[in-house]
Amino acid sequence: MPGFFIAFEGGDGAGKSTQVKLLAAALQGKREVVVTREPGGSDVAEHIREVLLNPNHRIDGMTEALLFAAARADHVSKVIRPALEQNRVVICDRFVDSSIAYQGVARNLGIEMVRELNQIATNNLMPDLTIVLDVSTDAGLARAQEPNRMENEGADFHEIVKDAFIELAKQELARYLVVAANQSREAIAEIILQEVSERLK
Ligand code: TYD
Repeated sequence: MPGFFIAFEGGDGAGKSTQVKLLAAALQGKREVVVTREPGGSDVAEHIREVLLNPNHRIDGMTEALLFAAARADHVSKVIRPALEQNRVVICDRFVDSSIAYQGVARNLGIEMVRELNQIATNNLMPDLTIVLDVSTDAGLARAQEPNRMENEGADFHEIVKDAFIELAKQELARYLVVAANQSREAIAEIILQEVSERLK
């Protein structure tokens, strides 16, 4: 597949969306860039997002995993794959690793099951590079002003999620960049841009 697929991952409030924007801006003029996010990123997936994040909904772990995977299937087939086929750089705020960390590990559904489910949903599409922003749980949650259904989970849940991302990165170092998020946004952006530029050469 031509194109280059970058996913940003990390706990809630790690500053991902800021870094997504800064990276996209830095690549402008060099490559065609598509910025997108999960859950969401396509019309159908944005509707599923509303169902998933509504704090008034009670959703069990399996239903949650299936809804995230359904949203992802639509997003991949309508937005991400077509953009990669046109040689674009796709920058996605969260992807499969979020399902592995939140549903597989923190909701206890099991890493293997969630991984398989997502292989089916994405037809085996994986990012070329995953950037994990590593933030302390307290600092992350402190930033959520109107917590959505996931952010309403307690500090223990978010601690487990954060550790899960680091574990995933450790298992496949070549496809990950882990950046400590307790630095200035400019310093973080610089580290990310260097790594991405190197890989786009
Ligand atoms: P969002 O407001 O987009 O959070 P953030 O700014 O932290 O990315 O909410 C998305 C929430 O959904 C977030 O808590 C992570 C969670 N999530 C999953 O549990 N599984 C997934 O597969 C994805 C993509 C997100």
